[in-house]
Amino acid sequence: MKIELQHEAVEKLSLPALAVYSFEEEPSSSGTARRLPSNVQKVLENLQASGELTGKAYECTLIHQPAGMAVQKLLVVGAGKKEKFKPFQLGRLAGAAVRFLRARAVHEMAWLIEEEDGAKGIQMTAEGAILADYDADRYRTEQKVDRRVDLFALVCDKAPASEAWAAAIAQGQAIAEATNFTRDLVNEPANQMTPTLLAQHAREMAERAGLGYQELGTEEIRGLKMGALWAVAQGSDEPPRLMVLRYTPEDAPEAPVIGLVGKGITFDSGGISIKPSQDMHEMKTDMAGGATMLGVMQAIAQLKPRVRVIAVVPSTENMVSGKAYRPGDVITSMSGKTIEVLNTDAEGRLALADGLAYAKQLGCTVLIDAATLTGAVMVALGNITTGVFGRDQEWVNRVISSGTETGERMWQLPVDDDYRELYKSSIADLANTGGRYGGAITAAMFVGEFAGDTPWVHMDIAGTRWSNEEKPYLAKGPTGVPVRTLVHLLMHFAK
Ligand code: BES
Ligand code: MN
Ligand code: ZN
Repeated sequence: MKIELQHEAVEKLSLPALAVYSFEEEPSSSGTARRLPSNVQKVLENLQASGELTGKAYECTLIHQPAGMAVQKLLVVGAGKKEKFKPFQLGRLAGAAVRFLRARAVHEMAWLIEEEDGAKGIQMTAEGAILADYDADRYRTEQKVDRRVDLFALVCDKAPASEAWAAAIAQGQAIAEATNFTRDLVNEPANQMTPTLLAQHAREMAERAGLGYQELGTEEIRGLKMGALWAVAQGSDEPPRLMVLRYTPEDAPEAPVIGLVGKGITFDSGGISIKPSQDMHEMKTDMAGGATMLGVMQAIAQLKPRVRVIAVVPSTENMVSGKAYRPGDVITSMSGKTIEVLNTDAEGRLALADGLAYAKQLGCTVLIDAATLTGAVMVALGNITTGVFGRDQEWVNRVISSGTETGERMWQLPVDDDYRELYKSSIADLANTGGRYGGAITAAMFVGEFAGDTPWVHMDIAGTRWSNEEKPYLAKGPTGVPVRTLVHLLMHFAK
């Protein structure tokens, strides 16, 4: 999708479609709808009086051949109640317009922007448009009509387009494209996204983006005594990989070095503690944490914040075979801590244990991990909100407020020493499960044991990695959460 700034009066715009939005209280004269010519506003008033136009969130009202205007279609998107409106919602409104119009074979459209949106609002708008124009349809060979929007023009009738706006568009574009890159990786089936293939994508992206790249294979993983990651990997015929991507801007201070560790299980069958077959296919998405960190790295390589970042993505399948690790096995992690495996389906925390230990060894001074770690977090927060955990409240707050800004919902769940009892082992330092109750908390805390004293934040994205329904502004399928939150965090931290 090409996004460009245009300085033009609304009446004269000659693209096939123009989209505006209006609020619920005064749907015919608020938001950007108030910039429409008065005769068109009169039409909106009539639609409002008849009850067709209400301004409710994402309501789409299409007007053909609006009199006195050059566009063929005018779309009015409802923005909901004005008092509840937040800047990130501009992106969703733009997204709803994109999805509505492209379903009607519109390939070029305009969106009215206002001076008071500011650079931030413009960035959000560009972001929302690109995220909305995504569909997870690459394996469909039939009835695949090209329904993408090729040109999205941001039109301002008042102020001339400034440099800051162009930069804001470029930022939004970089962030949304990186998010879509993550969504593509998550969406691939496990036969097309083995650890080897994931690493290949990571390498290609790193080369394109100018990031440092290294990759460990079976020998290096075993050589470094990553006994926890290897225990999961040993049951699969597909060899594991551990990817390391480095962003080292010359003008950045030596510290902090932010370590982004992402769970990269390309398929989670559960292992010997095998999962029920019902929804097992969904476990192709169990590398969403790793894919998130790859997307974040792609974005920051373009946006260039002044902060050092190292991404570590331990990746393997979790399979059943004669070589697979068993319940009851005791393994030694890279940190030296021993772990009794009570359930081979609690594999993510094992991969992360060695991923965090390695990130620390590489010199990371802050650790942030993202993982599709537990079904329990879905019970707690559903598909809507990411669970956030950590002992360093300042870093937890940074993550949560970045989430609030970008519209990716986050909620903190507790970590507390009282829970440690739950994952004690009778024969080793730790057990890899803590039972059903508080499952998201004990899983997070298990991971945190390997961060030691290093400030650490954990994001459980088991629920938020995927959307089961299509939204007006977003396709069903992979969401790319929490790429935008982490990019925002790194951009603002570096300021
Ligand atoms: N990858 C799963 C968690 C998951 C479940 C992600 C549903 C996305 C959707 C994880 O490896 C897992 O199996 N967790 C177990 C832990 C249990 C055995 C302690 C779980 O949540 O059931
Ligand atoms: Mn599992
Ligand atoms: Zn898993």
